[in-house]
Amino acid sequence: MSGPLLEPGSIGGLEIRNRLVRPATSETMATEDGTVTPQLIAFYEEMARNQVGLLITGHLYCHPRGQYAPLQMGVHDDSKVSGLSELAASCKRHGARIFGQVAHAGSQSRVPEVEPLAPSPVPNALTGRMVGEASEEEIAETIAAFAEGARRIAEAGFDGVHIHGANGYLISEFASPLANRRSDRWGGDAGARDEFPLAVARAVRAAVPADFPVTMKIGFADAPEGGLTVAESVSRAERVVAEGIDGIEVSIGVMQAPTDSANTYVAVDRKRAAQDLLVHRLFADPNPEAYFRPWAHELRKQVETKVILAGGMRTTETMSDVVASGDSDFVAMARPFIREPDIAAQIVAGRTGRVDCTSCNLCLRHEGHHSLRCWRTPRRRLLQHAIYRFSGGLRHGLMRTRH
Ligand SMILES: Cc1cc2nc3c(=O)[nH]c(=O)nc-3n(C[C@H](O)[C@H](O)[C@H](O)COP(=O)(O)O)c2cc1C
Ligand code: SF4
Repeated sequence: MSGPLLEPGSIGGLEIRNRLVRPATSETMATEDGTVTPQLIAFYEEMARNQVGLLITGHLYCHPRGQYAPLQMGVHDDSKVSGLSELAASCKRHGARIFGQVAHAGSQSRVPEVEPLAPSPVPNALTGRMVGEASEEEIAETIAAFAEGARRIAEAGFDGVHIHGANGYLISEFASPLANRRSDRWGGDAGARDEFPLAVARAVRAAVPADFPVTMKIGFADAPEGGLTVAESVSRAERVVAEGIDGIEVSIGVMQAPTDSANTYVAVDRKRAAQDLLVHRLFADPNPEAYFRPWAHELRKQVETKVILAGGMRTTETMSDVVASGDSDFVAMARPFIREPDIAAQIVAGRTGRVDCTSCNLCLRHEGHHSLRCWRTPRRRLLQHAIYRFSGGLRHGLMRTRH
């Protein structure tokens, strides 16, 4: 295959061999203290060997209070650097680029032992977890933790750092009028709600070498009524880019359900649903492809930056059109890479049409419970899922883990 997807691209002067990105997708494969494991290295190396252009790690918590789930990778102290170095080197040797995603879960943490942090005492829209208002000192400590996390990612030999500013986590909570009810310099009108994302962007930029690529995932709108709007977010993205951020990934902000970011049954017709034993889809409508594309389009119109677009990229025709139209420079697939870790190599070799993933979200439901995998193939996994689910394993809001 030739065409726009296979042309080299670049971010902040770094050349990337094609436009196919594996966006941040949390793995549940680290040790209890967030250290890289051989399982994680093998997992990423398989995608790197198979022609992916850019890998972005799952979210790495930059502060112990920012951990989202058990067995998440961390970047919160210097002891994490050597494992991360091995991970980066194992991918780079195959010609792939790899960015580390630096993150803080805010009030969305699902770890019972963690004392989370949030801009305001508002129940988390996704989990209902209640958290006190962050003090000036806690805010300063958290911004410094993002910067230190980015410094460690650069020291570990990654090609870039990706700041998680979306999906209801801490930065997206500060940006949201629903989650941020402060009236000091960190909250109030849209300009004041820019302050925390800008402070993090500035601190991260200053913590890494001047030519080290830094990108940011931004939530462009909140899922609940009365939340963040796209117009406000495009202006925020413009200000972030002015701080030296080299590219923006388009996503959703505060979420009410995990499906707000990962829509179900994207472009799955009845025949495909039947083949994949997707009983639920027979009672639900398929969702359209590239569901955040209109927001990327708005961003592209107003801001000069590199754009990464994830969210329901399921046919090579749509992916090529997204790049050829200029709506995005890169197309990113989270769930398709779980089901087919060699999907980039298949596209390079000429595969066209639909990818196999049917966006059923079983992989997402097991986040923090089991290591990342597709639960529809091989078929016996569906049975394992059913046994775990009906024994009550997925019912807990806060998590226990099985490997
Ligand atoms: C299992 C799972 C874990 C995810 N973990 C992260 C994460 O760590 N950081 C992040 O920014 N997004 C995360 N996401 C969201 C994806 O990056 C992506 O935005 C979303 O799944 C939509 O893309 P898709 O339709 O290609 O799956 C995750 C999604 C899934 C399914
Ligand atoms: S479990 Fe498999 S088919 Fe379902 S969304 Fe995840 S990767 Fe796709």
